[in-house]
Amino acid sequence: MSIIIAIDGHSSCGKSTVAREVAKKLGYTFIDSGAMYRAVTLYCLRNNLAPGWVIDEEKLGLHLHRIHIEFVFNQTLQKNLTFLNGENVDEEIRRPEVANLVSPVSVIGSVRDAMVAQQRAMGKKREIVMDGRDIGTVVFPDAELKIFMTASPQIRAQRRYDELIAKGLQTSIEDVLRNLQERDRIDSTREISPLRQAPDAIVLDNSSMTREEQLEFVLRLANERLQ
Ligand code: DC
Repeated sequence: MSIIIAIDGHSSCGKSTVAREVAKKLGYTFIDSGAMYRAVTLYCLRNNLAPGWVIDEEKLGLHLHRIHIEFVFNQTLQKNLTFLNGENVDEEIRRPEVANLVSPVSVIGSVRDAMVAQQRAMGKKREIVMDGRDIGTVVFPDAELKIFMTASPQIRAQRRYDELIAKGLQTSIEDVLRNLQERDRIDSTREISPLRQAPDAIVLDNSSMTREEQLEFVLRLANERLQ
Protein backbone atom coordinates (compact mmCIF):
# COMPACT_ATOMS: atom_id res chain seq x y z
CA MET A 1 0.00 0.00 0.00
CA SER A 2 1.18 3.51 -0.82
CA ILE A 3 -0.01 6.57 1.00
CA ILE A 4 0.14 10.37 0.86
CA ILE A 5 1.15 12.22 4.00
CA ALA A 6 0.00 15.85 4.14
CA ILE A 7 1.68 18.11 6.70
CA ASP A 8 0.10 21.54 7.01
CA GLY A 9 0.51 24.25 9.57
CA HIS A 10 1.82 27.65 10.53
CA SER A 11 4.97 29.30 9.19
CA SER A 12 8.30 28.28 10.70
CA CYS A 13 7.11 25.45 12.90
CA GLY A 14 9.46 22.89 11.39
CA LYS A 15 7.07 21.20 8.95
CA SER A 16 9.75 20.70 6.31
CA THR A 17 12.23 19.19 8.76
CA VAL A 18 9.73 16.60 9.98
CA ALA A 19 8.35 15.96 6.48
CA ARG A 20 11.85 15.41 5.06
CA GLU A 21 12.82 12.98 7.83
CA VAL A 22 9.55 11.04 7.58
CA ALA A 23 9.99 10.75 3.80
CA LYS A 24 13.54 9.50 4.23
CA LYS A 25 12.49 6.81 6.72
CA LEU A 26 9.69 5.58 4.47
CA GLY A 27 11.66 5.88 1.22
CA TYR A 28 9.08 8.43 0.00
CA THR A 29 9.57 11.67 -1.91
CA PHE A 30 9.46 14.85 0.14
CA ILE A 31 7.87 17.88 -1.52
CA ASP A 32 8.11 21.32 0.04
CA SER A 33 5.13 23.11 -1.52
CA GLY A 34 6.12 26.40 0.16
CA ALA A 35 9.34 26.33 -1.89
CA MET A 36 7.18 26.42 -5.02
CA TYR A 37 5.38 29.60 -3.91
CA ARG A 38 8.75 31.05 -2.91
CA ALA A 39 10.17 30.26 -6.37
CA VAL A 40 7.25 32.07 -8.04
CA THR A 41 7.92 35.02 -5.71
CA LEU A 42 11.59 35.06 -6.67
CA TYR A 43 10.58 35.04 -10.33
CA CYS A 44 8.34 38.09 -9.65
CA LEU A 45 11.19 39.97 -7.96
CA ARG A 46 13.63 39.18 -10.74
CA ASN A 47 11.22 40.13 -13.51
CA ASN A 48 9.94 43.33 -12.02
CA LEU A 49 6.46 41.92 -11.52
CA ALA A 50 6.15 43.49 -8.07
CA PRO A 51 7.12 47.13 -8.49
CA GLY A 52 6.98 48.92 -5.11
CA TRP A 53 6.15 45.52 -3.52
CA VAL A 54 2.76 45.47 -5.24
CA ILE A 55 2.26 42.44 -7.45
CA ASP A 56 1.15 43.09 -11.00
CA GLU A 57 -1.34 40.22 -11.12
CA GLU A 58 -2.23 40.63 -14.75
CA LYS A 59 1.36 40.59 -15.90
CA LEU A 60 2.20 37.68 -13.60
CA GLY A 61 -0.70 35.72 -15.11
CA LEU A 62 0.91 36.09 -18.52
CA HIS A 63 4.24 34.82 -17.18
CA LEU A 64 2.94 31.77 -15.31
CA HIS A 65 3.43 29.36 -18.21
CA ARG A 66 7.12 30.33 -18.25
CA ILE A 67 7.69 29.38 -14.61
CA HIS A 68 8.95 25.83 -14.33
CA ILE A 69 9.71 24.49 -10.88
CA GLU A 70 11.28 21.15 -10.15
CA PHE A 71 12.96 19.40 -7.27
CA VAL A 72 16.26 17.72 -7.97
CA PHE A 73 17.78 15.32 -5.47
CA ASN A 74 21.34 16.29 -4.51
CA GLN A 75 23.44 13.27 -3.55
CA THR A 76 26.02 15.23 -1.57
CA LEU A 77 23.48 17.11 0.53
CA GLN A 78 21.08 14.13 0.54
CA LYS A 79 18.10 16.39 -0.10
CA ASN A 80 15.89 17.84 -2.80
CA LEU A 81 16.90 21.25 -4.11
CA THR A 82 14.46 23.69 -5.69
CA PHE A 83 15.13 24.62 -9.31
CA LEU A 84 13.48 27.55 -11.08
CA ASN A 85 13.71 27.32 -14.86
CA GLY A 86 16.74 25.05 -14.59
CA GLU A 87 18.60 27.13 -11.97
CA ASN A 88 19.23 26.05 -8.40
CA VAL A 89 17.47 28.71 -6.29
CA ASP A 90 17.24 26.71 -3.09
CA GLU A 91 19.24 29.23 -1.04
CA GLU A 92 17.85 32.36 -2.63
CA ILE A 93 14.20 31.53 -1.98
CA ARG A 94 14.86 31.59 1.79
CA ARG A 95 15.99 35.23 1.73
CA PRO A 96 13.95 37.81 3.68
CA GLU A 97 12.90 39.72 0.50
CA VAL A 98 11.23 36.56 -0.73
CA ALA A 99 9.71 35.79 2.69
CA ASN A 100 8.21 39.29 2.78
CA LEU A 101 6.45 38.95 -0.56
CA VAL A 102 5.52 35.27 -0.64
CA SER A 103 2.18 35.49 1.17
CA PRO A 104 0.68 38.11 -1.18
CA VAL A 105 1.94 36.09 -4.16
CA SER A 106 0.36 32.90 -2.83
CA VAL A 107 -3.01 34.66 -2.44
CA ILE A 108 -3.36 34.95 -6.23
CA GLY A 109 -5.81 32.44 -7.69
CA SER A 110 -3.95 31.82 -10.95
CA VAL A 111 -0.73 31.13 -9.02
CA ARG A 112 -2.50 28.65 -6.75
CA ASP A 113 -4.17 26.88 -9.66
CA ALA A 114 -0.81 26.44 -11.39
CA MET A 115 0.93 25.18 -8.23
CA VAL A 116 -1.89 22.83 -7.16
CA ALA A 117 -1.90 21.23 -10.63
CA GLN A 118 1.86 20.62 -10.39
CA GLN A 119 1.56 19.28 -6.83
CA ARG A 120 -1.18 16.82 -7.80
CA ALA A 121 0.94 15.60 -10.71
CA MET A 122 3.82 14.98 -8.28
CA GLY A 123 1.53 12.86 -6.09
CA LYS A 124 0.08 10.72 -8.86
CA LYS A 125 1.89 7.60 -7.68
CA ARG A 126 1.34 8.53 -4.01
CA GLU A 127 4.44 7.71 -1.83
CA ILE A 128 4.98 11.40 -1.05
CA VAL A 129 5.19 13.55 2.04
CA MET A 130 4.12 17.08 1.14
CA ASP A 131 4.15 20.02 3.49
CA GLY A 132 2.31 23.32 3.09
CA ARG A 133 -0.87 25.12 4.08
CA ASP A 134 -3.62 23.52 2.00
CA ILE A 135 -2.28 20.05 1.29
CA GLY A 136 -4.79 18.13 3.43
CA THR A 137 -7.70 20.45 2.64
CA VAL A 138 -7.33 21.23 -1.09
CA VAL A 139 -4.43 19.51 -2.84
CA PHE A 140 -4.94 16.00 -1.46
CA PRO A 141 -8.20 15.90 0.53
CA ASP A 142 -7.94 12.10 0.23
CA ALA A 143 -4.48 11.89 1.87
CA GLU A 144 -4.31 8.86 4.16
CA LEU A 145 -2.50 10.82 6.88
CA LYS A 146 -2.96 14.52 7.62
CA ILE A 147 -0.95 16.33 10.25
CA PHE A 148 -1.59 19.90 11.37
CA MET A 149 1.58 21.30 12.93
CA THR A 150 1.89 24.31 15.14
CA ALA A 151 4.01 25.88 17.91
CA SER A 152 3.90 29.17 19.79
CA PRO A 153 4.85 32.27 17.71
CA GLN A 154 7.79 33.10 20.01
CA ILE A 155 9.27 29.65 19.67
CA ARG A 156 8.80 29.68 15.90
CA ALA A 157 10.42 33.13 15.61
CA GLN A 158 13.40 32.04 17.69
CA ARG A 159 13.92 28.92 15.55
CA ARG A 160 13.72 30.87 12.26
CA TYR A 161 16.00 33.61 13.66
CA ASP A 162 18.64 31.04 14.66
CA GLU A 163 18.46 29.54 11.17
CA LEU A 164 18.90 32.90 9.41
CA ILE A 165 21.78 33.94 11.66
CA ALA A 166 23.49 30.60 11.09
CA LYS A 167 23.28 31.33 7.37
CA GLY A 168 24.98 34.69 7.95
CA LEU A 169 21.87 36.80 7.23
CA GLN A 170 21.36 39.95 9.29
CA THR A 171 17.99 40.32 10.95
CA SER A 172 16.38 40.86 14.34
CA ILE A 173 14.08 38.56 16.28
CA GLU A 174 11.40 41.29 16.24
CA ASP A 175 11.49 41.44 12.44
CA VAL A 176 11.30 37.67 12.17
CA LEU A 177 8.34 37.52 14.59
CA ARG A 178 6.56 40.33 12.73
CA ASN A 179 7.10 38.59 9.39
CA LEU A 180 5.78 35.25 10.56
CA GLN A 181 2.76 36.72 12.34
CA GLU A 182 1.92 38.70 9.22
CA ARG A 183 2.30 35.56 7.10
CA ASP A 184 0.06 33.61 9.50
CA ARG A 185 -2.53 36.36 9.24
CA ILE A 186 -2.51 36.47 5.43
CA ASP A 187 -2.32 32.67 5.09
CA SER A 188 -5.27 32.12 7.46
CA THR A 189 -7.56 34.88 6.19
CA ARG A 190 -7.08 34.65 2.42
CA GLU A 191 -10.13 33.82 0.35
CA ILE A 192 -8.70 30.93 -1.65
CA SER A 193 -7.39 27.88 0.22
CA PRO A 194 -6.78 29.54 3.60
CA LEU A 195 -4.64 27.75 6.17
CA ARG A 196 -7.16 25.60 7.98
CA GLN A 197 -6.96 22.39 9.90
CA ALA A 198 -8.67 19.61 7.92
CA PRO A 199 -11.41 17.97 10.04
CA ASP A 200 -9.55 14.66 9.87
CA ALA A 201 -6.08 16.11 10.59
CA ILE A 202 -4.15 15.23 13.72
CA VAL A 203 -2.64 18.18 15.60
CA LEU A 204 1.06 18.15 16.38
CA ASP A 205 2.06 21.04 18.67
CA ASN A 206 5.82 20.78 18.81
CA SER A 207 6.49 23.75 21.13
CA SER A 208 8.23 21.48 23.60
CA MET A 209 9.05 18.42 21.52
CA THR A 210 12.41 17.28 20.20
CA ARG A 211 12.93 16.43 16.53
CA GLU A 212 13.09 12.75 17.41
CA GLU A 213 9.78 12.89 19.28
CA GLN A 214 8.10 14.60 16.34
CA LEU A 215 9.48 12.05 13.91
CA GLU A 216 8.33 9.20 16.12
CA PHE A 217 4.85 10.76 16.43
CA VAL A 218 4.34 10.98 12.65
CA LEU A 219 6.00 7.64 11.85
CA ARG A 220 3.79 5.80 14.31
CA LEU A 221 0.68 7.19 12.61
CA ALA A 222 2.09 6.50 9.14
CA ASN A 223 2.92 2.90 10.02
CA GLU A 224 -0.61 2.37 11.40
CA ARG A 225 -1.97 3.42 8.01
CA LEU A 226 0.53 1.34 6.09
CA GLN A 227 -0.51 -1.89 7.82
O1 DC B 1 6.25 26.85 4.13
P1 DC B 1 6.89 28.17 3.74
O2 DC B 1 7.01 29.14 4.89
O3 DC B 1 8.16 28.02 2.99
O4 DC B 1 5.82 28.81 2.73
C1 DC B 1 6.03 30.06 2.15
C2 DC B 1 4.70 30.73 1.86
O5 DC B 1 4.00 30.03 0.84
C3 DC B 1 3.74 30.84 3.02
O6 DC B 1 3.77 32.13 3.59
C4 DC B 1 2.38 30.56 2.46
C5 DC B 1 2.61 29.98 1.11
N1 DC B 1 2.15 28.62 0.95
C6 DC B 1 0.86 28.42 0.55
O7 DC B 1 0.11 29.38 0.39
N2 DC B 1 0.41 27.17 0.32
C7 DC B 1 1.20 26.11 0.48
N3 DC B 1 0.73 24.89 0.24
C8 DC B 1 2.53 26.29 0.93
C9 DC B 1 2.98 27.56 1.17
